[in-house]
Amino acid sequence: MSEKATLTYDGKSYEYPVIVGTENERAIDIAQLRAQTGMITLDDGYSNTGSCVSNITFIDGEQGILRYRGYPIEQLAEHSTFIETAYLIIFGELPTEKQLAEFRNLLVEHMFIHEAMRHHFEGFPASAPPMAILSAMINTMGCFDPLLTQPEDPARFLEASARLISRVRTIAAAAYKKSVGDPIIYPRFDLSYTANFLHMLFCKPNRICRPDPAVERAMDQIFILHADHEQNCSTSTVRMVGSSQANLYASVAAGVCALWGPLHGGANVAVIEMLENIHQSGETIPNFMTKIKDKKAHARLMGFGHRVYKNYDPRAKFIKQSCDAVLSKLGIKDPLLDIALQLEEIAVKDPYFVERKLYPNVDFYSGIIMRAVGIPMNMFTVLFAIGRLPGWIANWREVHLSPQARIYRPRQVYNGPTVRQYVPIGARA
Ligand code: CMC
Repeated sequence: MSEKATLTYDGKSYEYPVIVGTENERAIDIAQLRAQTGMITLDDGYSNTGSCVSNITFIDGEQGILRYRGYPIEQLAEHSTFIETAYLIIFGELPTEKQLAEFRNLLVEHMFIHEAMRHHFEGFPASAPPMAILSAMINTMGCFDPLLTQPEDPARFLEASARLISRVRTIAAAAYKKSVGDPIIYPRFDLSYTANFLHMLFCKPNRICRPDPAVERAMDQIFILHADHEQNCSTSTVRMVGSSQANLYASVAAGVCALWGPLHGGANVAVIEMLENIHQSGETIPNFMTKIKDKKAHARLMGFGHRVYKNYDPRAKFIKQSCDAVLSKLGIKDPLLDIALQLEEIAVKDPYFVERKLYPNVDFYSGIIMRAVGIPMNMFTVLFAIGRLPGWIANWREVHLSPQARIYRPRQVYNGPTVRQYVPIGARA
Protein backbone atom coordinates (compact mmCIF):
# COMPACT_ATOMS: atom_id res chain seq x y z
CA MET A 1 0.00 0.00 0.00
CA SER A 2 1.34 3.41 -0.91
CA GLU A 3 2.29 5.70 1.96
CA LYS A 4 0.51 8.99 2.64
CA ALA A 5 1.36 12.07 4.68
CA THR A 6 -1.40 13.98 6.41
CA LEU A 7 -1.45 17.74 6.76
CA THR A 8 -3.81 19.19 9.30
CA TYR A 9 -4.60 22.89 9.11
CA ASP A 10 -7.48 24.98 10.32
CA GLY A 11 -9.42 21.93 11.48
CA LYS A 12 -9.16 20.09 8.14
CA SER A 13 -6.93 17.18 7.11
CA TYR A 14 -5.39 16.66 3.69
CA GLU A 15 -3.54 13.58 2.45
CA TYR A 16 -0.56 13.65 0.14
CA PRO A 17 1.23 10.71 -1.50
CA VAL A 18 4.74 9.85 -0.30
CA ILE A 19 7.08 9.17 -3.20
CA VAL A 20 9.84 6.66 -2.44
CA GLY A 21 13.01 6.66 -4.55
CA THR A 22 15.10 3.58 -5.39
CA GLU A 23 17.48 4.42 -2.53
CA ASN A 24 14.54 4.77 -0.15
CA GLU A 25 14.54 8.57 -0.14
CA ARG A 26 11.10 9.84 0.79
CA ALA A 27 9.32 12.93 -0.48
CA ILE A 28 5.83 14.27 0.12
CA ASP A 29 4.23 14.97 -3.24
CA ILE A 30 2.44 18.29 -2.69
CA ALA A 31 1.39 18.86 -6.30
CA GLN A 32 -2.26 19.24 -5.19
CA LEU A 33 -1.51 21.37 -2.11
CA ARG A 34 -2.48 24.77 -3.50
CA ALA A 35 -5.52 23.48 -5.34
CA GLN A 36 -6.77 21.81 -2.14
CA THR A 37 -5.74 24.29 0.54
CA GLY A 38 -5.00 27.59 -1.21
CA MET A 39 -1.53 27.51 0.42
CA ILE A 40 1.96 27.02 -0.90
CA THR A 41 5.13 25.79 0.81
CA LEU A 42 7.95 28.21 1.57
CA ASP A 43 11.52 26.90 1.40
CA ASP A 44 13.91 29.78 0.81
CA GLY A 45 17.07 28.36 -0.78
CA TYR A 46 15.26 25.06 -1.53
CA SER A 47 17.04 23.01 1.19
CA ASN A 48 13.97 20.76 1.60
CA THR A 49 12.52 20.93 -1.88
CA GLY A 50 12.79 18.17 -4.43
CA SER A 51 12.40 19.96 -7.76
CA CYS A 52 12.18 16.78 -9.83
CA VAL A 53 12.43 13.00 -9.89
CA SER A 54 15.72 12.11 -11.56
CA ASN A 55 17.49 8.89 -12.58
CA ILE A 56 20.94 10.37 -13.05
CA THR A 57 22.88 10.91 -9.83
CA PHE A 58 22.46 9.73 -6.26
CA ILE A 59 23.97 11.51 -3.26
CA ASP A 60 23.75 10.47 0.36
CA GLY A 61 25.10 13.56 2.05
CA GLU A 62 25.07 12.04 5.53
CA GLN A 63 27.23 9.09 4.50
CA GLY A 64 29.31 10.89 1.87
CA ILE A 65 28.10 8.74 -1.05
CA LEU A 66 28.03 9.88 -4.69
CA ARG A 67 27.02 7.63 -7.59
CA TYR A 68 26.42 8.35 -11.26
CA ARG A 69 23.69 6.07 -12.67
CA GLY A 70 24.35 3.71 -9.75
CA TYR A 71 28.14 3.53 -10.16
CA PRO A 72 30.20 4.76 -7.16
CA ILE A 73 32.26 7.82 -8.00
CA GLU A 74 35.39 6.15 -6.59
CA GLN A 75 35.14 3.28 -9.11
CA LEU A 76 34.60 5.64 -12.02
CA ALA A 77 37.48 7.91 -11.00
CA GLU A 78 39.73 4.86 -10.62
CA HIS A 79 38.79 2.87 -13.73
CA SER A 80 36.83 5.02 -16.19
CA THR A 81 37.66 7.98 -18.39
CA PHE A 82 35.86 11.29 -18.57
CA ILE A 83 34.44 10.45 -21.99
CA GLU A 84 33.15 7.04 -20.93
CA THR A 85 31.65 8.61 -17.79
CA ALA A 86 30.08 11.38 -19.87
CA TYR A 87 28.39 8.75 -22.05
CA LEU A 88 27.17 6.92 -18.94
CA ILE A 89 25.73 10.07 -17.41
CA ILE A 90 23.99 11.25 -20.57
CA PHE A 91 22.66 7.91 -21.84
CA GLY A 92 22.27 5.93 -18.62
CA GLU A 93 24.53 2.92 -19.35
CA LEU A 94 28.26 2.35 -19.70
CA PRO A 95 28.97 2.21 -23.44
CA THR A 96 30.00 -0.94 -25.28
CA GLU A 97 33.32 -0.77 -27.14
CA LYS A 98 31.43 0.04 -30.35
CA GLN A 99 29.35 2.78 -28.72
CA LEU A 100 32.41 4.34 -27.11
CA ALA A 101 34.33 4.26 -30.41
CA GLU A 102 31.39 5.92 -32.15
CA PHE A 103 31.20 8.62 -29.46
CA ARG A 104 34.95 9.22 -29.67
CA ASN A 105 34.74 9.51 -33.46
CA LEU A 106 32.04 12.14 -33.11
CA LEU A 107 34.16 14.04 -30.60
CA VAL A 108 37.06 14.04 -33.05
CA GLU A 109 34.86 14.96 -36.00
CA HIS A 110 33.39 17.97 -34.17
CA MET A 111 36.43 19.24 -32.29
CA PHE A 112 36.82 22.35 -34.44
CA ILE A 113 34.64 25.38 -33.92
CA HIS A 114 33.30 27.13 -37.01
CA GLU A 115 36.04 29.38 -38.42
CA ALA A 116 33.67 32.35 -38.28
CA MET A 117 33.52 31.92 -34.51
CA ARG A 118 37.20 32.74 -34.21
CA HIS A 119 36.36 36.36 -35.04
CA HIS A 120 33.97 36.54 -32.10
CA PHE A 121 36.90 36.18 -29.73
CA GLU A 122 38.29 39.48 -31.08
CA GLY A 123 35.32 41.36 -29.61
CA PHE A 124 36.18 40.58 -25.99
CA PRO A 125 38.59 42.78 -24.05
CA ALA A 126 41.78 40.97 -22.99
CA SER A 127 40.60 41.20 -19.39
CA ALA A 128 37.29 39.41 -20.09
CA PRO A 129 36.77 36.57 -17.62
CA PRO A 130 36.93 33.21 -19.44
CA MET A 131 33.60 32.17 -17.82
CA ALA A 132 31.92 35.14 -19.55
CA ILE A 133 33.51 34.17 -22.86
CA LEU A 134 32.57 30.53 -22.37
CA SER A 135 28.91 31.31 -21.75
CA ALA A 136 28.70 33.77 -24.65
CA MET A 137 30.48 31.43 -27.04
CA ILE A 138 28.30 28.43 -26.15
CA ASN A 139 25.28 30.49 -27.18
CA THR A 140 27.17 31.60 -30.30
CA MET A 141 27.92 27.98 -31.11
CA GLY A 142 24.19 27.30 -30.99
CA CYS A 143 23.73 29.78 -33.84
CA PHE A 144 25.98 27.65 -36.03
CA ASP A 145 24.43 24.34 -35.10
CA PRO A 146 21.46 22.86 -36.94
CA LEU A 147 21.11 20.01 -34.41
CA LEU A 148 19.86 22.19 -31.62
CA THR A 149 17.07 20.29 -29.94
CA GLN A 150 16.75 16.60 -30.68
CA PRO A 151 16.38 14.93 -27.30
CA GLU A 152 13.96 12.31 -28.55
CA ASP A 153 16.22 11.04 -31.36
CA PRO A 154 19.12 9.17 -29.65
CA ALA A 155 21.45 9.28 -32.68
CA ARG A 156 21.07 13.00 -33.21
CA PHE A 157 21.25 13.72 -29.52
CA LEU A 158 24.47 11.68 -29.32
CA GLU A 159 25.89 13.90 -32.03
CA ALA A 160 24.65 17.13 -30.42
CA SER A 161 26.18 16.04 -27.09
CA ALA A 162 29.48 15.15 -28.75
CA ARG A 163 29.60 18.50 -30.53
CA LEU A 164 29.00 20.39 -27.34
CA ILE A 165 31.43 18.37 -25.20
CA SER A 166 34.16 18.48 -27.82
CA ARG A 167 33.81 22.14 -28.76
CA VAL A 168 33.45 23.46 -25.22
CA ARG A 169 37.00 22.30 -24.67
CA THR A 170 38.15 24.07 -27.87
CA ILE A 171 36.35 27.28 -26.86
CA ALA A 172 37.73 27.16 -23.31
CA ALA A 173 41.32 26.82 -24.54
CA ALA A 174 40.79 29.55 -27.17
CA ALA A 175 39.34 31.90 -24.52
CA TYR A 176 42.50 31.44 -22.48
CA LYS A 177 44.82 31.95 -25.46
CA LYS A 178 43.00 35.16 -26.32
CA SER A 179 43.23 36.41 -22.74
CA VAL A 180 47.04 36.11 -22.81
CA GLY A 181 47.39 37.32 -26.41
CA ASP A 182 48.70 34.01 -27.78
CA PRO A 183 47.63 32.47 -31.10
CA ILE A 184 44.73 30.03 -30.79
CA ILE A 185 45.93 26.43 -31.09
CA TYR A 186 43.92 23.91 -33.12
CA PRO A 187 42.94 20.58 -31.56
CA ARG A 188 44.66 17.36 -32.69
CA PHE A 189 42.85 14.22 -33.80
CA ASP A 190 45.40 11.85 -32.19
CA LEU A 191 45.12 12.98 -28.56
CA SER A 192 42.70 11.92 -25.84
CA TYR A 193 40.02 14.40 -24.81
CA THR A 194 41.95 15.72 -21.84
CA ALA A 195 45.40 15.61 -23.47
CA ASN A 196 43.93 17.60 -26.36
CA PHE A 197 42.67 20.26 -23.96
CA LEU A 198 46.08 20.53 -22.29
CA HIS A 199 47.69 20.68 -25.75
CA MET A 200 45.45 23.59 -26.81
CA LEU A 201 46.08 25.34 -23.51
CA PHE A 202 49.85 25.00 -23.25
CA CYS A 203 51.29 24.54 -26.75
CA LYS A 204 52.33 27.36 -29.04
CA PRO A 205 52.78 27.25 -32.81
CA ASN A 206 56.54 27.10 -32.19
CA ARG A 207 56.40 24.89 -29.09
CA ILE A 208 54.94 21.41 -29.17
CA CYS A 209 54.37 19.95 -25.75
CA ARG A 210 53.03 16.59 -24.67
CA PRO A 211 51.38 16.54 -21.24
CA ASP A 212 52.81 14.21 -18.63
CA PRO A 213 50.50 11.11 -18.56
CA ALA A 214 50.14 11.49 -14.76
CA VAL A 215 48.93 15.07 -15.23
CA GLU A 216 46.59 14.04 -18.04
CA ARG A 217 45.12 11.30 -15.82
CA ALA A 218 44.73 13.63 -12.83
CA MET A 219 42.94 16.22 -14.97
CA ASP A 220 40.72 13.53 -16.50
CA GLN A 221 39.83 12.38 -12.98
CA ILE A 222 38.99 15.98 -12.01
CA PHE A 223 36.58 16.09 -14.94
CA ILE A 224 35.04 12.75 -13.87
CA LEU A 225 34.60 13.94 -10.28
CA HIS A 226 32.83 17.11 -11.44
CA ALA A 227 30.67 15.42 -14.10
CA ASP A 228 27.36 15.60 -12.24
CA HIS A 229 26.06 16.43 -8.79
CA GLU A 230 22.26 16.22 -8.86
CA GLN A 231 20.27 19.43 -8.34
CA ASN A 232 23.06 21.92 -7.62
CA CYS A 233 22.67 25.58 -8.53
CA SER A 234 23.96 25.36 -12.13
CA THR A 235 22.20 22.09 -12.97
CA SER A 236 18.93 23.41 -11.56
CA THR A 237 19.50 26.48 -13.73
CA VAL A 238 19.97 24.32 -16.83
CA ARG A 239 16.77 22.43 -15.98
CA MET A 240 14.90 25.66 -15.26
CA VAL A 241 15.93 27.26 -18.56
CA GLY A 242 15.43 23.98 -20.43
CA SER A 243 11.92 23.64 -19.00
CA SER A 244 10.86 26.66 -21.07
CA GLN A 245 11.98 24.54 -24.06
CA ALA A 246 14.98 26.77 -24.64
CA ASN A 247 17.55 24.86 -26.67
CA LEU A 248 20.43 22.87 -25.19
CA TYR A 249 23.05 25.54 -25.92
CA ALA A 250 21.06 28.39 -24.36
CA SER A 251 20.33 26.25 -21.30
CA VAL A 252 23.96 25.20 -20.84
CA ALA A 253 25.17 28.80 -21.34
CA ALA A 254 22.91 29.78 -18.43
CA GLY A 255 24.39 26.92 -16.39
CA VAL A 256 27.89 28.33 -16.97
CA CYS A 257 26.78 31.69 -15.52
CA ALA A 258 25.28 30.00 -12.45
CA LEU A 259 28.46 28.00 -11.90
CA TRP A 260 30.60 31.13 -12.00
CA GLY A 261 29.71 32.39 -8.49
CA PRO A 262 32.15 31.88 -5.59
CA LEU A 263 29.64 29.88 -3.56
CA HIS A 264 29.43 27.35 -6.40
CA GLY A 265 32.11 26.61 -9.06
CA GLY A 266 33.97 29.84 -8.39
CA ALA A 267 34.95 28.46 -4.98
CA ASN A 268 38.03 26.75 -6.47
CA VAL A 269 39.42 30.23 -7.29
CA ALA A 270 38.31 31.64 -3.93
CA VAL A 271 40.18 28.84 -2.11
CA ILE A 272 43.48 29.66 -3.80
CA GLU A 273 42.98 33.39 -3.21
CA MET A 274 42.32 32.65 0.46
CA LEU A 275 45.40 30.41 0.78
CA GLU A 276 47.56 32.97 -1.04
CA ASN A 277 46.35 35.72 1.29
CA ILE A 278 47.24 33.67 4.34
CA HIS A 279 50.63 32.83 2.84
CA GLN A 280 51.49 36.39 1.80
CA SER A 281 50.26 38.04 4.97
CA GLY A 282 52.01 35.51 7.20
CA GLU A 283 48.86 35.31 9.30
CA THR A 284 48.82 32.34 11.67
CA ILE A 285 46.28 29.61 10.97
CA PRO A 286 44.64 29.87 14.44
CA ASN A 287 44.19 33.63 13.92
CA PHE A 288 42.66 33.10 10.54
CA MET A 289 40.29 30.48 11.93
CA THR A 290 39.21 32.83 14.71
CA LYS A 291 38.20 35.38 12.05
CA ILE A 292 36.28 32.77 10.10
CA LYS A 293 34.26 31.86 13.18
CA ASP A 294 33.50 35.47 14.03
CA LYS A 295 30.04 36.04 12.57
CA LYS A 296 30.64 39.80 12.37
CA ALA A 297 33.50 39.25 9.91
CA HIS A 298 31.14 37.55 7.41
CA ALA A 299 34.06 35.39 6.28
CA ARG A 300 33.91 31.77 5.15
CA LEU A 301 36.47 29.04 4.97
CA MET A 302 36.29 28.61 1.21
CA GLY A 303 36.26 25.00 0.02
CA PHE A 304 34.47 23.93 3.20
CA GLY A 305 30.83 23.09 3.73
CA HIS A 306 28.17 21.83 1.42
CA ARG A 307 24.41 22.05 1.20
CA VAL A 308 24.05 18.28 0.84
CA TYR A 309 27.21 16.71 2.33
CA LYS A 310 27.19 16.62 6.09
CA ASN A 311 30.23 14.38 5.95
CA TYR A 312 33.51 14.40 4.00
CA ASP A 313 32.74 15.10 0.31
CA PRO A 314 33.81 11.85 -1.44
CA ARG A 315 35.19 13.90 -4.33
CA ALA A 316 37.41 15.87 -1.96
CA LYS A 317 38.83 12.63 -0.54
CA PHE A 318 39.87 11.49 -4.01
CA ILE A 319 41.17 14.89 -5.08
CA LYS A 320 43.27 15.20 -1.92
CA GLN A 321 45.04 11.92 -2.75
CA SER A 322 45.45 12.96 -6.37
CA CYS A 323 46.89 16.30 -5.23
CA ASP A 324 49.63 14.52 -3.26
CA ALA A 325 50.39 12.23 -6.21
CA VAL A 326 50.57 15.02 -8.82
CA LEU A 327 52.70 17.33 -6.71
CA SER A 328 55.17 14.58 -5.88
CA LYS A 329 55.27 13.39 -9.55
CA LEU A 330 56.01 16.95 -10.69
CA GLY A 331 58.44 17.49 -7.82
CA ILE A 332 56.50 20.53 -6.61
CA LYS A 333 56.40 21.68 -3.01
CA ASP A 334 53.53 24.12 -2.75
CA PRO A 335 53.30 26.11 0.51
CA LEU A 336 49.58 26.54 -0.18
CA LEU A 337 49.11 22.78 0.19
CA ASP A 338 50.74 22.92 3.64
CA ILE A 339 48.39 25.75 4.63
CA ALA A 340 45.37 23.82 3.31
CA LEU A 341 46.39 20.71 5.27
CA GLN A 342 46.78 22.74 8.46
CA LEU A 343 43.40 24.42 7.96
CA GLU A 344 41.74 21.06 7.46
CA GLU A 345 43.47 19.53 10.47
CA ILE A 346 42.24 22.33 12.72
CA ALA A 347 38.75 22.57 11.19
CA VAL A 348 37.87 18.89 11.50
CA LYS A 349 38.48 19.08 15.27
CA ASP A 350 37.00 22.53 15.88
CA PRO A 351 33.51 22.50 17.46
CA TYR A 352 32.36 25.34 15.11
CA PHE A 353 32.95 23.12 12.05
CA VAL A 354 32.05 19.83 13.73
CA GLU A 355 28.68 21.09 15.01
CA ARG A 356 27.79 22.53 11.61
CA LYS A 357 29.11 19.42 9.83
CA LEU A 358 31.44 21.44 7.63
CA TYR A 359 34.04 19.32 5.82
CA PRO A 360 36.31 19.97 2.81
CA ASN A 361 34.37 19.97 -0.44
CA VAL A 362 35.48 19.25 -4.01
CA ASP A 363 37.00 22.72 -4.37
CA PHE A 364 39.34 22.62 -1.38
CA TYR A 365 42.21 20.74 -3.05
CA SER A 366 41.35 20.87 -6.78
CA GLY A 367 42.84 24.36 -7.25
CA ILE A 368 46.17 23.19 -5.81
CA ILE A 369 46.40 20.44 -8.45
CA MET A 370 45.44 22.85 -11.23
CA ARG A 371 47.99 25.39 -10.04
CA ALA A 372 50.70 22.70 -9.99
CA VAL A 373 49.80 21.71 -13.54
CA GLY A 374 50.16 25.35 -14.62
CA ILE A 375 46.47 26.06 -15.24
CA PRO A 376 45.92 29.80 -14.77
CA MET A 377 43.61 30.65 -11.91
CA ASN A 378 40.98 32.37 -14.07
CA MET A 379 40.54 29.03 -15.86
CA PHE A 380 39.78 26.94 -12.76
CA THR A 381 36.03 27.43 -12.91
CA VAL A 382 36.10 26.90 -16.67
CA LEU A 383 37.55 23.44 -16.01
CA PHE A 384 34.73 22.79 -13.56
CA ALA A 385 32.31 23.77 -16.36
CA ILE A 386 33.94 21.38 -18.85
CA GLY A 387 33.63 18.62 -16.26
CA ARG A 388 30.01 19.45 -15.36
CA LEU A 389 28.82 19.51 -18.97
CA PRO A 390 27.69 15.84 -19.17
CA GLY A 391 25.51 16.39 -16.09
CA TRP A 392 23.95 19.50 -17.60
CA ILE A 393 23.27 17.70 -20.88
CA ALA A 394 21.76 14.68 -19.13
CA ASN A 395 19.54 16.85 -16.94
CA TRP A 396 18.41 18.95 -19.90
CA ARG A 397 17.52 15.74 -21.75
CA GLU A 398 15.66 14.36 -18.73
CA VAL A 399 13.53 17.52 -18.52
CA HIS A 400 12.71 17.28 -22.22
CA LEU A 401 11.89 13.58 -22.22
CA SER A 402 9.82 13.61 -19.06
CA PRO A 403 6.15 12.87 -19.78
CA GLN A 404 5.28 15.24 -16.90
CA ALA A 405 7.43 18.05 -18.37
CA ARG A 406 6.06 21.46 -17.40
CA ILE A 407 7.72 24.83 -17.27
CA TYR A 408 9.49 25.36 -13.91
CA ARG A 409 7.64 28.14 -12.19
CA PRO A 410 7.95 28.44 -8.41
CA ARG A 411 5.64 30.64 -6.37
CA GLN A 412 6.48 33.17 -3.68
CA VAL A 413 5.08 34.76 -0.57
CA TYR A 414 4.66 38.44 -1.41
CA ASN A 415 5.71 40.73 1.40
CA GLY A 416 5.91 44.13 -0.33
CA PRO A 417 3.57 47.14 -0.08
CA THR A 418 -0.12 46.48 -0.44
CA VAL A 419 -2.05 48.34 -3.13
CA ARG A 420 -1.42 52.11 -3.38
CA GLN A 421 -2.30 54.80 -5.88
CA TYR A 422 0.10 56.30 -8.44
CA VAL A 423 1.31 59.80 -7.45
CA PRO A 424 2.35 62.22 -10.25
CA ILE A 425 6.07 63.14 -9.97
CA GLY A 426 5.41 66.77 -9.03
CA ALA A 427 3.18 65.70 -6.13
CA ARG A 428 5.72 63.31 -4.54
CA ALA A 429 7.31 64.24 -1.21
N1 CMC B 1 32.97 28.62 6.56
C1 CMC B 1 32.45 29.03 7.73
N2 CMC B 1 31.18 28.83 8.09
C2 CMC B 1 30.38 28.20 7.22
C3 CMC B 1 30.85 27.74 5.99
C4 CMC B 1 32.19 27.96 5.66
N3 CMC B 1 32.70 27.55 4.50
N4 CMC B 1 29.84 27.14 5.30
C5 CMC B 1 28.77 27.24 6.10
N5 CMC B 1 29.10 27.85 7.26
C6 CMC B 1 28.22 28.10 8.42
C7 CMC B 1 27.26 29.23 8.15
O1 CMC B 1 27.79 30.47 8.55
C8 CMC B 1 26.07 28.80 8.98
O2 CMC B 1 26.36 29.07 10.33
P1 CMC B 1 25.15 29.50 11.34
O3 CMC B 1 24.24 28.33 11.37
O4 CMC B 1 25.84 29.81 12.62
O5 CMC B 1 24.52 30.73 10.72
C9 CMC B 1 26.06 27.28 8.84
O6 CMC B 1 27.43 26.92 8.58
C10 CMC B 1 25.19 26.77 7.69
O7 CMC B 1 25.58 27.47 6.52
P2 CMC B 1 24.60 27.79 5.30
O8 CMC B 1 25.09 29.04 4.63
O9 CMC B 1 23.19 27.76 5.76
O10 CMC B 1 24.86 26.54 4.40
P3 CMC B 1 24.41 26.41 2.88
O11 CMC B 1 23.98 25.03 2.70
O12 CMC B 1 23.44 27.49 2.50
O13 CMC B 1 25.75 26.73 2.09
C11 CMC B 1 27.76 26.50 0.95
C12 CMC B 1 26.52 25.77 1.46
C13 CMC B 1 28.59 25.50 0.13
C14 CMC B 1 27.35 27.64 0.01
C15 CMC B 1 28.57 27.03 2.17
O14 CMC B 1 29.00 25.95 2.97
C16 CMC B 1 29.76 27.87 1.73
O15 CMC B 1 29.59 29.08 1.53
N6 CMC B 1 30.97 27.27 1.59
C17 CMC B 1 32.10 28.01 1.09
C18 CMC B 1 32.01 28.13 -0.41
C19 CMC B 1 32.33 26.83 -1.11
O16 CMC B 1 33.30 26.16 -0.78
N7 CMC B 1 31.50 26.48 -2.12
C20 CMC B 1 31.71 25.27 -2.92
C21 CMC B 1 30.63 24.24 -2.69
S1 CMC B 1 31.05 22.64 -3.34
C22 CMC B 1 31.12 22.87 -5.04
C23 CMC B 1 29.82 23.25 -5.64
O17 CMC B 1 28.81 22.59 -5.43
O18 CMC B 1 29.82 24.23 -6.38
